[in-house]
Amino acid sequence: MSITSNTRVQTGLETDLARRFPAQFLWGAATASYQIEGAVREDGRGPSIWDDFAATPGKVFQGHTGEVAADHYHRVEEDVALMAQLGLGAYRFSIAWPRILPEGRGTVNQAGLDFYDRLVDTLLAHGIQPFATLYHWDLPSPLQQVGGWVNRATAYAFAEYAEVVTRRLGDRVANWITLNEPWCSAYLGYGIGVHAPGLSDRQAAIDAAHHLLLAHGLAVPRMRAVLPSGAQVGITLLLNQIYGADERAETLRDMQLAYQFSNGWFLDPIYRARYPERFFEHLALNPPPIQAGDLEMIAAPLDFLGVNNYSRILIRGAQTQPLADRCEGVSPIPNSCYTDMGWEIYPHGLRDLLVSVARDYPVSKLYVTENGAAFPDVWDGGETVSDPRRLAYLHDYITACAEAIEQGAPLCGYFVWSLLDNFEWGEGYAKRFGIVYVDYPTQRRIIKESGHWYAALLHAFRNLQP
Ligand code: GCO
Repeated sequence: MSITSNTRVQTGLETDLARRFPAQFLWGAATASYQIEGAVREDGRGPSIWDDFAATPGKVFQGHTGEVAADHYHRVEEDVALMAQLGLGAYRFSIAWPRILPEGRGTVNQAGLDFYDRLVDTLLAHGIQPFATLYHWDLPSPLQQVGGWVNRATAYAFAEYAEVVTRRLGDRVANWITLNEPWCSAYLGYGIGVHAPGLSDRQAAIDAAHHLLLAHGLAVPRMRAVLPSGAQVGITLLLNQIYGADERAETLRDMQLAYQFSNGWFLDPIYRARYPERFFEHLALNPPPIQAGDLEMIAAPLDFLGVNNYSRILIRGAQTQPLADRCEGVSPIPNSCYTDMGWEIYPHGLRDLLVSVARDYPVSKLYVTENGAAFPDVWDGGETVSDPRRLAYLHDYITACAEAIEQGAPLCGYFVWSLLDNFEWGEGYAKRFGIVYVDYPTQRRIIKESGHWYAALLHAFRNLQP
């Protein structure tokens, strides 16, 4: 299929947008292991908390699981060829810890490492830079049986795992992300039970978050000790810009609390070696079990910050719901548009976020490691899938990235979430985020119109380079 034949947007417009990005800017797409790989019992992979959670009745939409997913494990060549066809300069994927260490620690499963080895070599053969995430939520089940992230020992297990992987792939992978969205792992997984491992204990979320941060802090020096100089190590956080609907004192107070809860909880320990002021008191919870030296370790210097952003948080004055519900914006905002996830589309939120993070924290480089939208796409059996709302979403959010750069944010790359339709956690396969449609019964891949548009933008960008 040719990239241009289905592209309805005029190239002149793409060139105007592409021109606003610096020459070295990296354009990519992102995925995660459990969401696309399938092959959960193959080549020695052990079970993960997501296998267990998905197997628990009532946890995932219609009992969907990642057992087959987008079958990427068996389609690496085809999928990388698709990335090359789209003109991607970089690909962000995650490594499944239970493929590498089926017990969580101890014996290394070489076949698991071989799979990622092959993926990396295939990417490099196509001129695509690999960005590897070490933890995108698939904790080996044996570690959960001894408490998972509530157990401090898991942080040490992660650091061992990080070293094993960087030893094997570090000669070819130059960009490393320790954790993806520890906020989700801790709060959604341990605090409110909508993600694996499905615990509903807010104090456990606080403790889990600390151990996730510690895992990151312990891993960074071990990775650096193994990686060649010049390799870049960072972390990816889910961040949201906070706005207030008015300037009442209670709105301003709630904005500050929402900021702590959504962003400061992770940004402050990583960049300031402390938790936000009175954070645990505000939540009416106890501080986590912090040991001497933990916060210094967590604040290990990083080469970049990965930002995942989809929406914003609008605080609409004092209400009676708990803070978390207000952050999730339970009632629709008048005149706003929403994606299929019920998330408000607000591109300026990404611009303002990138500018303010770079202003408030000592970050030298930023990447948007995830941004995208779910819409209920329908494939009619033809050559492409019409998804004008995703195309508009990407256009507007990428424009917001250009504005952030113009306002001084050190943004070095953008990864669309996601390359492929995939297993959307608690929503199963009901939500489609891909710029490529996956017809699950046949596993056929069909580039959506948004994918063709993205390819046209990347093509225009390349044409501008000397
Ligand atoms: C996250 C994860 C992704 C999701 C995506 C859409 O942000 O939750 O990193 O795995 O699939 O964000 O929800």
